Amino acid sequence: MPATTEATEAAEETAGAPGAAPVGEALRPHAEDAFADELKALAAADDRPRPACWRLSPWAVATYLLGGTLPDGTVITPKYVGPRRIVEVAVTTLATDRALLLLGVPGTAKTWVSEHLAAAVSGDSTLLVQGTAGTPEEAIRYGWNYAQLLAHGPSRDALVPSPVMRAMSDGMTARVEELTRIPADVQDSLITILSEKTLPIPELGQEVQAVRGFNLIATANDRDRGVNDLSSALRRRFNTVVLPLPATPDAEVEIVSRRVDQTGRSLDLPAAPEAIDEIRRVVTVFRELRDGVTTDGRTRLKSPSGTLSTAEAISVVTNGLALAAHFGDGVLRPGDVAAGILGAVVRDPAADRVVWQEYLETVVRERDGWKDFYRACREVSV
Ligand SMILES: Nc1ncnc2c1ncn2[C@@H]1O[C@H](COP(=O)(O)OP(=O)(O)OP(=O)(O)O)[C@@H](O)[C@H]1O
Ligand SMILES: [Mg+2]
Repeated sequence: MPATTEATEAAEETAGAPGAAPVGEALRPHAEDAFADELKALAAADDRPRPACWRLSPWAVATYLLGGTLPDGTVITPKYVGPRRIVEVAVTTLATDRALLLLGVPGTAKTWVSEHLAAAVSGDSTLLVQGTAGTPEEAIRYGWNYAQLLAHGPSRDALVPSPVMRAMSDGMTARVEELTRIPADVQDSLITILSEKTLPIPELGQEVQAVRGFNLIATANDRDRGVNDLSSALRRRFNTVVLPLPATPDAEVEIVSRRVDQTGRSLDLPAAPEAIDEIRRVVTVFRELRDGVTTDGRTRLKSPSGTLSTAEAISVVTNGLALAAHFGDGVLRPGDVAAGILGAVVRDPAADRVVWQEYLETVVRERDGWKDFYRACREVSV
């Protein structure tokens, strides 16, 4: 990460202050920067064939995502926790001429996986189009620098390429986030790109042809289905990979503690390992309410309107750790997560509050070892 001289100097100045955080560091570095060491070690150890323009072989890309140990002892941390096959299918798709669509309910790591795939395959995860209801065609094709256009007329110099166009001409991985939020006619501009692998520029009588190595990863949310449906013509150009919710409580606890640990380190929060019991409790509450039944299968529960995704569990625990660090004794306690849980569960003040109260009184109150948590929840509920 190139730091400016001022930033370095400022960091040196404050370095003497006890516990001072470094100045000028990116809050959230891109995957290719955050895991540059792992990517370098993988590239050095990787002797399998690489598709054109790929930084790594498909095997090494899968290892980067799923984690493992290299022959030289370098440990690759798992980025995605889930079925190996899903990652293998996703990586293989990128090596073919079909694009990849990651589909799933909110918080199932679609964006996360897409970023890491692009970082591992192309070494650059920033060729990104964020899909919204207002995404114009120019965001997918190209725009114009109007000053240049007026002064000199249409020319290649006046053209402002989109991230997708840049990926096509450089043989890189482009990313489109939230594809189904994009209006249908704008989505359709992807059809020629994906089937003909070319982007016509009628104003110049030219075209940009995709070079080998170009592919595209799109993400779409299950819940948004119907906002702007994917046309069947476009859907046929994609291989769809559905990312599931974590299969077991243990897997979800692992995801949450791993991510909390990573985010916590960048925010200088206490380490997550000591918080494992509290993390397990947050995950249990989320899973039981999401599934509408207690872990032992005995009590049926009503589900609240929120999604209660793994991503939300991560933020509840991170917030709890911040509370514990700044206003407590540094140890995550039930009182630190109670408010966060309540906020995640009660989205609709009327209906969800009833669901929460019922869960609190019938399940939390009766459970062994949950007395402190029950009390903390009662305190924030009133
Ligand atoms: N199976 C998993 N393995 C690793 N991390 C996970 C997993 N599931 C969720 N996460 C974590 O959850 C967080 C949120 O994921 P992300 O933002 O990618 O979700 P998303 O599917 O794109 O959600 P949305 O539909 O809201 O955009 C990430 O920090 C990610 O690390
Ligand atoms: Mg996302």
